[in-house]
Amino acid sequence: RSPTTITPKKHMLKLVILGDSGVGKTSLMNRYHSQKFTGQYKATIGADFLSKHVSIADPQTGSVRNVTLQIWDTAGQERFQSLGVAFYRGADAVALVYDVGDRRSFDHLENWRSEFLKQVGLEESGANFPFVLLGNKIDRPQDERQVSRQLAEEWCERSGLGREMGGPIPHFETSAKTAENVDAAFLELATLAVIHE
Ligand code: GTP
Ligand code: MG
Repeated sequence: RSPTTITPKKHMLKLVILGDSGVGKTSLMNRYHSQKFTGQYKATIGADFLSKHVSIADPQTGSVRNVTLQIWDTAGQERFQSLGVAFYRGADAVALVYDVGDRRSFDHLENWRSEFLKQVGLEESGANFPFVLLGNKIDRPQDERQVSRQLAEEWCERSGLGREMGGPIPHFETSAKTAENVDAAFLELATLAVIHE
């Protein structure tokens, strides 16, 4: 290869979903991948991925890119995380998920974020890694809400992408049950992965 060879853009982007057990990571992936939802809970063991082909407009060049998203769904339960960290490697972007009706799942976000950055060796430059924050189960009764939109947005400001990537972590309130905002959230995640590439 001559030194002037242009590195081809990736055709595959690895997206990783992290967050406490029961917040709806598997449900969000299944909703996005195949428009399916089940109310039954089956804990994820280890991790698994699904692929989806999408066309994404690259905001930097304006051109449309055809990419395969490899969406990795991980276990929230600690006892099922034995192989967990191996699945973080090579991630192009990460979705951090909490349940809007579960304050503890929100309080644990910082752990998920810093543990991920530590495992992939990005503790120093972590502010530039693309994360998207999803507050799931927005379909549940409003009086069961434990995390306000404002609280989540403040967290996004604090943990932001830094100046280089332009501002706070993007935040979406989603429902895997009704599909609200699910496509939009994954599109943002994929777009950030393309920008970061
Ligand atoms: P682990 O695999 O243990 O890490 O859990 P998880 O984050 O993958 O959660 P999962 O997707 O299995 O969902 C847990 C439970 O919440 C299931 O009973 C789902 O049906 C339910 N659930 C997931 N998303 C939603 C949602 O948006 N709204 C409502 N009402 N229920 C949801
Ligand atoms: Mg799961």
